Amino acid sequence: MQDYSTKVVAITGAANGLGKEIARRFACAGARLALVDVDADNLAELRTELEAKGVDVIDSVFDVRSAAAMEEFARQAYATYGHVDLFFNNAGVITVGTMWEQPLADWDWLLDVNVKGMLHGIKAFVPRMIAQDTECRIIDTASIAGLLTVENAPAYVASKFAALSLTEVLDLQLQAAGAKVTAHVICPAVVQTDLDNCLRHRDPSTYDADDPYYRTEDYIRRFEVVTKSMPAGLPVDAAVDIIISELEKGTFYILTHPRYNPAITGRTAAIVAGTHPTIVAR
Ligand SMILES: NC(=O)c1ccc[n+]([C@@H]2O[C@H](COP(=O)([O-])OP(=O)(O)OC[C@H]3O[C@@H](n4cnc5c(N)ncnc54)[C@H](O)[C@@H]3O)[C@@H](O)[C@H]2O)c1
Repeated sequence: MQDYSTKVVAITGAANGLGKEIARRFACAGARLALVDVDADNLAELRTELEAKGVDVIDSVFDVRSAAAMEEFARQAYATYGHVDLFFNNAGVITVGTMWEQPLADWDWLLDVNVKGMLHGIKAFVPRMIAQDTECRIIDTASIAGLLTVENAPAYVASKFAALSLTEVLDLQLQAAGAKVTAHVICPAVVQTDLDNCLRHRDPSTYDADDPYYRTEDYIRRFEVVTKSMPAGLPVDAAVDIIISELEKGTFYILTHPRYNPAITGRTAAIVAGTHPTIVAR
């Protein structure tokens, strides 16, 4: 890994999983950090761990659904450090369901966190990075589910296709503006994180916990598909090895699971051929 001792790295969803490992790696490489999460306890624990190693950290507990909180976080990061060089727009959640039965509230929540939350990060950090006029990176975490349609989690897939296309357009607009900022998109398949536990921090005002759909066989079976897949996923450290190595090469589409590459090219071929989508083997 390169030396980041002159760099500042901001990360959303930093308290667990990919965000936490990314924070640790950049801390080891000398960076100063600005971290966000809704999970106050795990974020505080990470901050204590990093500060014990002499790392400069500021942290903020908020939900990326709040544009105002994101703006305040960016203001604080710039006020503290004077610059931010890499911004990982990483916070994300998942729900599952059959499209015509899943409560609309799940769609609202998923799109608000995974898409609008990402947009809030872009709106808060990109203008500051452009004004900074140094080489900066915005790194959005989408998913392989932004490149391939999987059957189990329609709102998640829709949110990740949106996240991926949003990052492509961001990069195009940065190029058109002649900015020194580049965008990148991370597209992992399954990684061993806490993603399947994401409901624990869901704002109770965003859904009706008594909705009968959550007690159906359909919902329970679909949720089990997610929980059972996690232990077979790529270990977080292996995923982050690939993410950082590809980022340092300047890769735009950062893919962590090459075994899905034939399915990605197969999808493109199917689009051109006009055939129906096929279920991707896990
Ligand atoms: N783990 C996988 O298999 C996998 C695969 C593809 C993509 N991803 C994506 O990777 C990203 C990171 O997820 P992870 O797998 O590390 O899961 P994780 O649950 O371990 O970590 C996500 C972190 O984001 C935080 N978070 C969730 N919603 C938030 C919100 N509204 N505001 C602020 N913080 C919030 C959580 O508290 C958690 O600390 C997500 O965008 C996820 O969709 C994960």
